[in-house]
Amino acid sequence: MSYTVTLKKSGRQFQAEADESILAAALRQGVGLPYGCKNGACSSCKAEIVAGEVDQGPHAASALANDEKTRGFALLCCANARSDVEIDVREVNGVGDVPVKKLPCRVSELVRASDDAMIVRLQLPANERLQFLAGQYLEFILKDGKRRAYSIASSPHADGPLELHIRHLPGGVFTDHVFGAMKPRDILRFEGPLGTFFLREDTDKPVVLLCSGTGFAPIKAIVEHMIFKEIRRPVTLYWGGRRKRDLYLAEAAQRWAAEHAHIRFVPVLSEPDADDGWTGRTGFVHRAVIEDLPDLAGYEVYACGAPVMVESAQRDFTAHHGLPADAFFADAFTSAADLANPI
Ligand SMILES: Cc1cc2nc3c(=O)[nH]c(=O)nc-3n(C[C@H](O)[C@H](O)[C@H](O)COP(=O)(O)OP(=O)(O)OC[C@H]3O[C@@H](n4cnc5c(N)ncnc54)[C@H](O)[C@@H]3O)c2cc1C
Ligand code: FES
Repeated sequence: MSYTVTLKKSGRQFQAEADESILAAALRQGVGLPYGCKNGACSSCKAEIVAGEVDQGPHAASALANDEKTRGFALLCCANARSDVEIDVREVNGVGDVPVKKLPCRVSELVRASDDAMIVRLQLPANERLQFLAGQYLEFILKDGKRRAYSIASSPHADGPLELHIRHLPGGVFTDHVFGAMKPRDILRFEGPLGTFFLREDTDKPVVLLCSGTGFAPIKAIVEHMIFKEIRRPVTLYWGGRRKRDLYLAEAAQRWAAEHAHIRFVPVLSEPDADDGWTGRTGFVHRAVIEDLPDLAGYEVYACGAPVMVESAQRDFTAHHGLPADAFFADAFTSAADLANPI
């Protein structure tokens, strides 16, 4: 049984089978809709069901509140059509043209960047090249079929291995392995590129890049892409960590700022160690943005990292600091813990 899905803004239509999510149906047919985690944890795929019926599958309570459900909102990554439906959602141009592949890769290098951050480099088979947009992620397919998502930190123009920045979550299925038994020459399998976190290039608005921890990975790809393409929109990069060592590539960010007049770098620590000798900004990283830029009306914001940081930034920037809802783009690094008690 299949149903017709109509996108309210463009009138574009596609078919969704009863047993697939509306997001999966859209992506299968090259229709770009926003998404991040694909499993009901991050809320990037939230859309208003204007007409028709959907069956909303289990999801994290934080991703879709009960009152939003009552008002007709749904998470398209885990909602199946139960009739023809019309939905109001921001469409994403450009991703539908990038082929999504399943590929083997070899770990070429593991570099411990701090006590809990690993830079992992991956070599593709000799005849393969991955086309992707700076900021997108890939998903490792583990032996038991589980998947784990990691943003690509290298930018698309760069030859050589793909780079990932992986933070250790103790007790985590995949990152315990990365920080334990994984070694160079190991073979992994992944699917990608995925996601809709990439620079929108159809505007000249100044850009705020906001990240915490390894959320720096896709931000690095975006900045390197902007430098390579000579995109000179003013950029302010805010990178937050608890301690100085959490900003494991601060030198790279400082170099961008030193070499490019339109790039500014603001490191922010929430709990600096006494021996960090920190004299820079302190507090929550998204609050530093608000202190510097209380009126965000003319900006685009790209936020990535801890779900709580991304949620707070989206809420505060759009509700109290004038950022238009459609000028906020994000990937929240959700994990199994965020889906521990689905509703
Ligand atoms: C779009 C996207 C991009 C991402 N990009 C990156 C990236 O570039 N870098 C990065 O470091 N991460 C990234 N992540 C997060 C990453 O995908 C993994 O979720 C993360 O690395 C943890 O994986 P894991 O298998 O080690 O942990 P998991 O097995 O998922 O466990 C995570 C943590 O939760 C705990 N836990 C597990 N189950 C439960 C439960 N039922 N109740 C309570 N606690 C539980 C575990 O002990 C562990 O501490 C991204 C996520 C998304 C969605
Ligand atoms: S993509 Fe649907 S909740 Fe994350």
